Amino acid sequence: MTKPYSTLLLLGLLVGLHGGCFSASKDKPSNPGAGAQTSEELSGLPCDVSKLLAEKCMECHGARPQQGAPSLGSYGLLTAKDKSGKTYAEIATERFRDEKAPMPPDDPLSDAEIAKFQKWVDSGEPTGTCDGVDDVFNVPEQCSSNVQWTRKDRGSQLMHPGDECIDCHNKHDDAPFFTIAGTLYPTAHEPDDCNGVNGTSAGAKVVITDKNGKVQTLSVNAAGNFYSTRSVALPYRAKVVVGDQEREMDDEQKSGDCNGCHTQQGDNNQGGDNKAPGRIILP
Ligand code: HEC
Ligand code: HEC
Ligand code: HEC
Repeated sequence: MTKPYSTLLLLGLLVGLHGGCFSASKDKPSNPGAGAQTSEELSGLPCDVSKLLAEKCMECHGARPQQGAPSLGSYGLLTAKDKSGKTYAEIATERFRDEKAPMPPDDPLSDAEIAKFQKWVDSGEPTGTCDGVDDVFNVPEQCSSNVQWTRKDRGSQLMHPGDECIDCHNKHDDAPFFTIAGTLYPTAHEPDDCNGVNGTSAGAKVVITDKNGKVQTLSVNAAGNFYSTRSVALPYRAKVVVGDQEREMDDEQKSGDCNGCHTQQGDNNQGGDNKAPGRIILP
């Protein structure tokens, strides 16, 4: 008897959690005149696509579209075909870099955002949900490795995992100059000085692509730390790669001190628009 009961309980919990993806935007004061739209109406889409639309398109393409913009706020509307036989999602990909009439008109998408949307279109516009995607950042605080750095400021490549390496090194003449430095963790809210992923056994790499397209692939050491002393033209992009899995940052950044934003709780150091979701984690 216990099994069916706990399954029911679990189902109840899942239903309760459903739609958690946009819980933050739901709390915002609603502005029906601006065609504002809630997360439920965007369901059916993979989380990254649905988030992108909510942030960059729904102010005009919501349930009450603005200035003749078609409503695109659902899986069905986005994958519907127009007269030419193309889906609106396909048309969107043609409009992102359209010089005469770009979409969005005033706030162009970044290359990473376009790549994300294009990937979804190229893979046949599959349905998806936000469940399980955001859950990786909705986890308890813990030190998974159970190993703490205790040797204070004694220089070592394993030192102070999770801390702001560059910020501290800049204050110490004897510390090496890094252009990029940070720590990779198994879960999203690990404390400072807690060892991260053993990057050597996990085979994890951090890939930095600078403004000029120059790529650096950094190894992740036994404490989860990674760093570079080679020059990086700003802003840069970053992703974590393990085999053919990757986790990529959408935004470009001007600070190479990854842990300055990717703190235990996540921060928007440098006054960035967005708050980092927590630690840099495995894909
Ligand atoms: C500031 C308002 C605004 C924003 C933001 C915006 N759009 Fe638009 N969009 C419009 C308007 C107005 C039109 C209709 C006129 C036109 O086609 O240029 C339009 C047209 C389109 C069309 C063409 C529809 C057709 O019938 O051919 C697509 C596709 C589209 N937008 C996708 C997007 C996507 C995807 C985003 C977000 C990444 C976005 N738009 C952001 C205002 C906006
Ligand atoms: C609170 C200050 C502080 C923080 C945070 C810090 N370091 Fe250091 N680090 C130092 C100082 C001081 C030295 C130089 C003194 C020494 O080598 O004993 C140093 C030296 C080093 C060295 C050179 C070691 C050697 O053998 O020459 C490496 C590599 C290093 N740090 C990596 C990192 C990484 C990676 C991070 C972030 C995950 C980091 N540090 C965070 C203070 C810090
Ligand atoms: C100025 C703040 C800032 C700095 C510095 C920064 N990040 Fe981020 N990072 C963010 C924000 C905000 C997000 C969430 C939005 C996004 O994906 O761009 C993010 C997201 C990410 C993600 C994707 C997380 C997900 O959603 O799965 C990865 C991976 C990442 N960052 C890696 C890095 C690495 C590696 C560095 C250092 C080389 C770095 N970040 C430096 C702010 C920062």
